[in-house]
Order: sequence, then C-alpha cells, then structure tokens
Amino acid sequence: MNKETIRFMLNGEQVEIYANPAKSLLHLLRDDLGLTGTKEGCGQGECGACTVLLDDVAVNSCLVPAGKISGHSVITIEALSKDGKPDFVQEAFVEKGAVQCGFCTPGMVMSAHALLRQNTDPSPEEVKTAISGNLCRCTGYKQIEEAILSAAEKLKS
Ligand code: FES
Ligand code: FES
Repeated sequence: MNKETIRFMLNGEQVEIYANPAKSLLHLLRDDLGLTGTKEGCGQGECGACTVLLDDVAVNSCLVPAGKISGHSVITIEALSKDGKPDFVQEAFVEKGAVQCGFCTPGMVMSAHALLRQNTDPSPEEVKTAISGNLCRCTGYKQIEEAILSAAEKLKS
C-alpha cells in the first residue's frame, strides 16, 4: 500500500504519521491516531457526524483525503474538554437537553465551534445554517439550536 509521511497540527500539537494519503481524515483520526470521538455515520458527506475543524472551518472529515492535511491544522472534539471538564459549548448542550443518543453530538459541537469562532453573536437563522449539514435523528434540532445560542451567551459573560 502506498504510504507517505503526513505532518500537521492536531489539537495544537505537531503530529507526524506514516499513512496512506488516500484514506480519509476520519479514518486517520480514528484508526491511526486513536481519536474515536469523531464519529462515522454515512461516510459520504451527508450526515455531519464526522465534522472536525480544518483551519478553523467545519469539514466532513470522511471526505477529506489524509494526504491533503499536511501543513494544516485539525481540531477534533477531544481538544475541547480540559481535565475532564466539558467546554462551554458541551456544557450548553447538556444544560439544554440537546444530547439524546449522542451520536451526532461531536459533529454538532464542532459545527457550533466553527460558527462561534467566526460569529460570537449568531442569530437563530445563522445557527440553523451552521448545523444544516449535521443530521440528528433524535432531538428535533430545537434543543440543539437553543444550546448553541446559549453557548454564544456564555461567551459574552
Ligand atoms: S460520516 Fe462524514 S458526513 Fe457522514
Ligand atoms: S442525539 Fe441522537 S442523532 Fe442526535
């Protein structure tokens, strides 16, 4: 199998890994780097379960070839909690009852982060747009949208 050295920033640390550049970033994270917080749903760019930040932009990691991330920065759900304490977005999801089975949650939280990094005071419509690529089969989205708006409020305090 064709492999090459891939160097990139992962959750703030420089990482170097010898892997097949054609495999997806999702599988590089889960299988080669042991970061299983990023979930695989459809594997085809349709559900958003695999969302990570690539240079601070939300992307479906199942669609990104590992070979394309050299020299870039990737942030995954594992970067958020500190000392076992959830970050402000994760906390808002729990407070607003936005987590049921939880399968979509890492992707939703990462899409929320991508939004809040660019826009600290989003409107409900902007929140809806930010998570429009993330499917949830459980909550009906209302609690998720409320959680993201609540996280934005936390940023102000
Ligand atoms: S697993 Fe990537 S979009 Fe569904
Ligand atoms: S909480 Fe179950 S898919 Fe969203």
